[in-house]
Amino acid sequence: MAITVFNIETIIAVARRAGQLVLQLRRDGLRNIRGKSNEIDLVTEADLASEALIREALHEAYPFVGFWGEESNQQPKEEFFWVVDPVDGTVNYANGVPFYAVNIALQQAETTLMGVTVQLPSGHIYWAKRGDGAFLRNPDGDQRRIFVNHVDRLAGALLTTGFPYHRADSPDNNSSEFVYFLTHAQGVRCMGSAALDLANVATGALAGFWEGWLNPWDVAPGALLVREAGGQVTDYNGKEWTLLSRSAIASNGRPNLHRELLEGIQQARAGLTESRLG
Ligand code: IPD
Ligand code: CA
Ligand code: CA
Repeated sequence: MAITVFNIETIIAVARRAGQLVLQLRRDGLRNIRGKSNEIDLVTEADLASEALIREALHEAYPFVGFWGEESNQQPKEEFFWVVDPVDGTVNYANGVPFYAVNIALQQAETTLMGVTVQLPSGHIYWAKRGDGAFLRNPDGDQRRIFVNHVDRLAGALLTTGFPYHRADSPDNNSSEFVYFLTHAQGVRCMGSAALDLANVATGALAGFWEGWLNPWDVAPGALLVREAGGQVTDYNGKEWTLLSRSAIASNGRPNLHRELLEGIQQARAGLTESRLG
C-alpha cells in the first residue's frame, strides 16, 4: 500500500469533528468523570465518545487500517494502523483549563507517516507528513510551515514536561529530573498535554521537552511534528524515539542542547535504582 492512499485532510477533518464533540460534551456539562489506573488518571465520557467517533470515521474512510486508541488499548496486528489519543490533557479538560488536544497518528509498523494534533478549545491544527514538513493551521484557515528554534544552550532553553500518574507510588516520578532542569534551564513549564508540549517544540516556542512513562498515543504525532520541523526526538538513553519507547526527549535538534538534556536526565536519574527507562 502506498502512502498516497492516505489524505491528510481526511485525518484533519476527523480530528476536528472529534474536537467539536469534546467541546460540545463540556458545554453540555460533563458527567461520568472517573479514575482509570488510579484516582488522578481521569477518563470522561468525552474520551470514550471521541475515541468511538475517530474509530468509526477512520474505519469508514480506510477500512483496511488497524486502530490503537488509548481507551480501548488493543495493539493492532495490521502493518498500517492509527494511534489515537482521543483527549490528551484530560485533567485540564475535566477542570476547565483551556489546553488539551485530539491526537491522531498514522503508522506503518514503527514508522509514523502522518500526525495531526488539534489544540482545544482554540482549534489550532498542527500536522505533519513524513518528509514533507510540519505545519500550523490557524482557526481562520491561515497556514504556515513551522520550524524549531535555534537555542543551543540549556541555560537559554525554555523547557516543558509532565508527570506520570503513578507519581505518588514511585520515586521514578520525574521529580529529580524536574529539579535538575528547573535549576539549569531558562525555565520549565508544566502545561498538562504532552501532545501540545511537542507541538510547542515544533513551532520553536519551546526548545525542549522530556517525560518518562509515556504511551504511543501521547507522543506519535508530536514526535513527527518535531522531526519534520527540524528537531530531534530520542529516548532517555539517546536512541531515536520509536513507538514503543516509554521515555522521550524532544529538542530543537541542536547537538549541544540535546546532549545537555540527555546528560541532565542521566545525572538526575543516577540515584534511582531502575534508571534505564528506554
Ligand atoms: C497525559 C498528558 C500529560 C502527561 C501525561 C499523559 P492524558 O495524557 O499528556 O501532559 O504528563 O503523562 O498521560 O491522560 O491527558 O491523555
Ligand atoms: Ca495522553
Ligand atoms: Ca488521553
